[in-house]
Amino acid sequence: MLNVGLLGAGRIAGVHATAISSNPESTLVAVSDINAAAAEKIATGYGAQMRDTDAILNDPAIDAVLIATSTDTHSDLIERATAAGKSVLCEKPVDLSLARAQACQKVVAANGKPVMIGFNRRFDPSFSALKAALDAGEIGKPELLSITSFDPAPPPVAYVKVSGGLFRDMMIHDFDMANFLMNAAPVSVSAVGTSIVDPEIGAAGDVDTAVVTLTYADGRIAVIKNSRRAVYGYDQRVELLGSEGLLQAQNMLENTVVKSTTAGVTGARPTFFFLERYMPAYTAEWAAFVDAVNGGSAMPVTLDDGVAALAMAEAATRSVKSGAPVRLDSLGV
Ligand SMILES: NC(=O)c1ccc[n+]([C@@H]2O[C@H](COP(=O)([O-])OP(=O)(O)OC[C@H]3O[C@@H](n4cnc5c(N)ncnc54)[C@H](O)[C@@H]3O)[C@@H](O)[C@H]2O)c1
Repeated sequence: MLNVGLLGAGRIAGVHATAISSNPESTLVAVSDINAAAAEKIATGYGAQMRDTDAILNDPAIDAVLIATSTDTHSDLIERATAAGKSVLCEKPVDLSLARAQACQKVVAANGKPVMIGFNRRFDPSFSALKAALDAGEIGKPELLSITSFDPAPPPVAYVKVSGGLFRDMMIHDFDMANFLMNAAPVSVSAVGTSIVDPEIGAAGDVDTAVVTLTYADGRIAVIKNSRRAVYGYDQRVELLGSEGLLQAQNMLENTVVKSTTAGVTGARPTFFFLERYMPAYTAEWAAFVDAVNGGSAMPVTLDDGVAALAMAEAATRSVKSGAPVRLDSLGV
């Protein structure tokens, strides 16, 4: 049985508390948050204790921690938790700063404890089935990847200001998905972006709509499209063209009813947002972490994967400002 401490008690922490508690191999022992009331609420709901972070990290009976705090705390908490001998699952992104994340990599290597980064979409049933078909060689060599990732509505501008921007906060998932499916990092990142949905997002120095092109050393190409607004719901699709065929993962819908009348053929909207669409993925992500810790095997998504995606976000942020492609080797990765 894996005894777990949950650091952070905000929006995503509630999802993780459910995954930890529902897994027969793990127990949620304690929850911390700088907002004590938030920690108390989750702890009470799941039969755990509210403690401060130090008390969780110093408890030898706690084997693992799940870090679901605000992004600017991730590197510090990963370093402290691994120094305290805990296995770690940390939410994306590793940090707001690439240099800070790279420093964290060195500390973690020295501490010698496993760290997984929460790129939950790898565990989504549709995307993991697509990956399995790809790995089985069913479409030959992947050549052109297209990822569509639209949120239903933009977050508050106050969130945008501390999020690190669309590329670090939102497209980071798609950068990781590209690395996962193309089985390589690109050599170059080109980005265009605009704040056409909410000019206040532009005034805060961010974009809400962006297209990124990734080019690979062997000539392959990936295109990622992000928008903070899709009025019909959360739009999450992947299309991968290979030398021997095409793989597509479509949206999950609110229901499967299709209405056909003289007016046309219509169906339900996509599930509203990430909590609905990706709940099975969060559960499977946690199960994969528990299996890796218990089995002593490699983490299915590593800290290196987290830093690789962050480097692409950094490159895209620079490219959108300069208007020129940014080579990843120019960032020291
Ligand atoms: N994988 C996903 O699908 C996904 C979805 C949402 C959020 N996230 C990530 O999860 C993280 C949290 O996002 P959220 O939406 O839950 O945010 P949130 O603001 O709802 O929750 C963050 C919580 O962390 C607490 N906190 C901040 N600093 C702390 C510290 N030093 N020690 C303890 N607690 C601290 C805050 O008080 C807050 O309760 C972010 O990094 C975000 O990028 C990932």
